[in-house]
Amino acid sequence: PDLESLVGLPDFEWAARHSMNISAYTYYRNGAAGEWSYRNNLEVFQRFRLRPRVMVDITNIESTLPTTILGHNFSAPFFISPCARAGYAHPDAETNLVKGAGAENILYMPALYASKTIEEIAAAKGNNSAQVLFQQVYLTDNDTDTKALFARIEKSGSKAIIMTVDSAADGNRHRAKRYGVGSADSSYSYLTWDLYHKLSNMTTLPIIPKGIQTVEDARLAVENGVKAFMISNHGGRQLDTTPSSLEVALEIHNEDPEIFKKVEVYADGGVRYGADVLKLLALGVKAVGVGRPFMFSNVYGVDGVKKAIELLKHEVAIDAANLGVADLKKIGPQYVDWRSTNAW
Ligand code: FNR
Repeated sequence: PDLESLVGLPDFEWAARHSMNISAYTYYRNGAAGEWSYRNNLEVFQRFRLRPRVMVDITNIESTLPTTILGHNFSAPFFISPCARAGYAHPDAETNLVKGAGAENILYMPALYASKTIEEIAAAKGNNSAQVLFQQVYLTDNDTDTKALFARIEKSGSKAIIMTVDSAADGNRHRAKRYGVGSADSSYSYLTWDLYHKLSNMTTLPIIPKGIQTVEDARLAVENGVKAFMISNHGGRQLDTTPSSLEVALEIHNEDPEIFKKVEVYADGGVRYGADVLKLLALGVKAVGVGRPFMFSNVYGVDGVKKAIELLKHEVAIDAANLGVADLKKIGPQYVDWRSTNAW
């Protein structure tokens, strides 16, 4: 389909389904086991009703979209989550995501298991050398390897290290296995808070854990001195029946809301519409990640990535306006009815 005809993020998956080969498409689309978490990530947003306020002057809403992430300025409170193997969608792979994110001034987190090297990805910034990237990593307990990797990341200009913590073992990915496209992004089991401290001493960059799924671990992250952490169940690709980010953010909000003030909290999984972003921000999440839709948008190259970003920016603005939010920075939990509407 013509890029011009796409109207929202879900359209990119539909379009990619018709142009990618089935095994590559399946690698992106896959969730773990029965894919309950994959579906729940999408559906959870529909279980919580918005509480729109009317007669509010929302004329300046668009100017309130820009935000900071770890002190860096971006044009919107959402970013491109780290996803392996962008080359499955387009031969220029991650470089398109860098350029699209750069043109739109949003944050991109390149994955370690990318189709391009860290150096090639950094070079794609081109004239836009001030563009901020956060590099995702899987780390081992081999200090020599880690130091070499950190040196490459620092040299590339990356401003933070996103350390995936939700992949202690292989993901149980039936759908992907049927097509022989790899069941997991990584596998290890030695990652502990002790190792986190050791790793933090090996780099000048902040290390941000990605994959927090309980209030207990959110608290531990804060106690262990993180500057930020990311709530994520890896897009439902690791352990099936793990909670969606909205449910985890709600748990933190109910049990230890100060956490949102102590450190920056990011979240991803199943975000497809403007209102999904708003619900996470309402709980105190600082910025929201989107994975698959941006990977699928890359079948159209840089133009596709830019279009996907523009569509989501527009939706965040118009949904915030209809919700009666004059300033996106001031959105709060009162804009959502947190009583779940389904018994499930
Ligand atoms: C991922 N994700 C991921 N996460 C990570 O920390 N390291 C990785 O290498 C990958 N690889 C990866 C590949 C593909 C194809 C997908 C779809 C996802 C998870 C990703 O960062 C993010 O958490 C989810 O994609 C968010 O869910 P949505 O937006 O895809 O629903």
